[in-house]
Amino acid sequence: MMIKKLALFLFFLVFSGLLLAQEPNGDASAEKKVFIDNLLSKMTLQEKVGQLRLVSVGGDLTLNKVLDQIQAGEIGGIFNTVVEPDLSQMQERALKSPNKIPLFLGFDVIHGHRTVFPINLGIASTWDRSAIAKAAEVSADEATSDGLNITWAPMVDITRDPRWGRVSEGFGEDPYLTSEAGRIFVEKMQKQSLADKKSLVTSVKHFALYGAVEGGREYNSTDMSERKMFQEYLVPYKAAIDAGSRVVMVSLVSVNGIPATANHWLLTEVLRNQWHFDGVVVSDHGAIRELINHGVASDPKDAVRVAIKAGIDISMNDEYFLQFVPELVKEGAISEDEINQACRHVLELKYDMGLFSDPYRNLDPKLDIETMFANDRLHRKEARDVARRSIVLLKNNDEILPLTKNKKIAIVGPLADSQRDILGSWSGAGRVNLAVTPLEGIKRAVNNSNSVSYAFGANLSDDANLYRFLNLYGETSKFDNRPADKMITEAVKIAKKADVVIAFVGEAEGMAHESSSRTDLSLPATQKQLLKALKKTGKPLVIVLMNGRPLTLSEEYAQADAMLETWFLGTEGGNAIADVLFGDYNPSGKLPMSFPYNVGQIPVYYSHLNTGRPRGTENMGKYTTSYFDSPNEPLFPFGFGLSYTNFAMDFSLSSSEMNKNGEIIVKVNVENIGNKEGMQTVQLYLQDVTASVSRPVKELIGFENISLKPHEKGEVEFVIKYDMLKFWNDKMQYVAEPGKFNVFIGSDSTTQNKQTFTLLD
Ligand code: BGC
Repeated sequence: MMIKKLALFLFFLVFSGLLLAQEPNGDASAEKKVFIDNLLSKMTLQEKVGQLRLVSVGGDLTLNKVLDQIQAGEIGGIFNTVVEPDLSQMQERALKSPNKIPLFLGFDVIHGHRTVFPINLGIASTWDRSAIAKAAEVSADEATSDGLNITWAPMVDITRDPRWGRVSEGFGEDPYLTSEAGRIFVEKMQKQSLADKKSLVTSVKHFALYGAVEGGREYNSTDMSERKMFQEYLVPYKAAIDAGSRVVMVSLVSVNGIPATANHWLLTEVLRNQWHFDGVVVSDHGAIRELINHGVASDPKDAVRVAIKAGIDISMNDEYFLQFVPELVKEGAISEDEINQACRHVLELKYDMGLFSDPYRNLDPKLDIETMFANDRLHRKEARDVARRSIVLLKNNDEILPLTKNKKIAIVGPLADSQRDILGSWSGAGRVNLAVTPLEGIKRAVNNSNSVSYAFGANLSDDANLYRFLNLYGETSKFDNRPADKMITEAVKIAKKADVVIAFVGEAEGMAHESSSRTDLSLPATQKQLLKALKKTGKPLVIVLMNGRPLTLSEEYAQADAMLETWFLGTEGGNAIADVLFGDYNPSGKLPMSFPYNVGQIPVYYSHLNTGRPRGTENMGKYTTSYFDSPNEPLFPFGFGLSYTNFAMDFSLSSSEMNKNGEIIVKVNVENIGNKEGMQTVQLYLQDVTASVSRPVKELIGFENISLKPHEKGEVEFVIKYDMLKFWNDKMQYVAEPGKFNVFIGSDSTTQNKQTFTLLD
């Protein structure tokens, strides 16, 4: 009896506690609804449309014009301004608008802000959740310190075609790695609550499939089965939304015949109805006008109608909303309810950000430009740490690396001393003159500039059109007018006098950006000639690559004694490279994208399906899936990256069977069998051997890092749960099917280290 009473009492306590816990939330959301209903009831249609307009200063739209429009209630958010006094002024004018609705203040915070971190492909190469978190946290911290409150990141487009220039902005080819990076970006930028003063609202982009453009050609169309979409390409957007990203930016391209901006299925049926996204949907720059070129709208007014009907809330860099939405409503082509709904999404976000109670958060009109760009506002330590973790060691013959600091070093190449290039694209708030180049980093590291000589060696390319097209002159990548022979001779001269030659080659940052697709992924001829001449000297040759995408590098791989992929590492790039070259940091990065041998292999990615005629290992592969002039496999596989030490791994499964409610524990023993301390990324892959649809030969489902001293042993554990076995089956249901599963553990995606278990019925 006593026990029964006690149980009842406890039940009452818990239940009332639950009620109490829920009450404030309930109150808060009711309060929010009342506030927004009230606001909407006071707003004219014109002002509602204003909230759906995102505008940036530029061209005809001068700062003064923008300020006047803000005060008239015709602008809901601005972007591309990073100067605080201007931002403060804008917010001040918004508070003088009829309903005093504060503005969003947005900017592309892609890989850092004042401090530039490695490009995202580099950040992904860390395969290190804490490094990804650090980059995102610092970026949000700096951006909010500048008064910004929203960003157009993370970009989580899966990228399997290195011809596309924007692969540099994403996290590579794999849904799981990209989802993890995207999730961490959202969590660390937005923080627990949007009302946190340091929270920067994220916009996951580009929804959807931008990374799958045909032929890797920028802005081209995409066409993909729904199965592949849901199984792979849509996964990272969903992960970022599940992590709470309050904004989704829509991709510029066509998805299965319908431009994303006009795609009701994508923006409403999938995003709103299936995924229950209740945040803000923003179109990309110019996307609404482009619907006319796409052939789904007859004129600007029609384009506005089509976009709103599909599910667009905000028009980025708006040209037409103000002009046409009121007309369309009047004519009944769009209902005022549709505009109210879009406006509600915007106002709810502003409410949750706390902008109505603290519109000036983090704004300081007295912060002058000099102070904003000051060196002491940078987070150099964090940037250096993430940068060195992003570096991938691709080759190290005879352990030529790490170098001892007493060597005579010849530094050569167009990228060795370029402050602009090392920052990478999308680094507009960074300061070029604060970046550390490799030349500077190496000189500092050896502490004796006499032992280091330098020659420019070659232009990035001799294609003047490329320089013009990518705007590579001026502050950006250097161009030397001297004859090519002369520059090479100078480089060879210093190489001959040195103990080792380090050549910095690759791409200009502008070559791996928006609107910079390539069909030829080899190094430009100027750089190839330079490398050939350096190789001829017979001196040990270390090739340090700086580039924003996988390149085709067979020749350079053969020439190099050692080879490092460093991407564009950001403000502290030069120091990070020196840390790795001299062994102050043992490289631990792994490739987030496969590097093809040649362009003809593209797309080449590790998680492909098996075919009915897999290629064996023994012969040329007649009547098997193969090329007769190229391997099927890439030059460097996904997940690949060497270390200055070596690791051995073996593993066991807790059971050879699993049922619906069970799990399998994967225990991995790792041993550092070399002589240097180092970090290994243990990668867990899965293969569903037989199912109702063909499943990939391998899919990444987990990774963990372990640091070990020489000869030290350690253990890494993974848990495989039922949900991790699910996929979109032959009926497009998301289920796990009973049967055999292969589990692979390794240090890259080619691992054959395998165990098997069975999922029971
Ligand atoms: C890009 C977006 C970017 C936007 C704003 C567009 O050209 O596609 O990724 O966020 O510009 O700068």
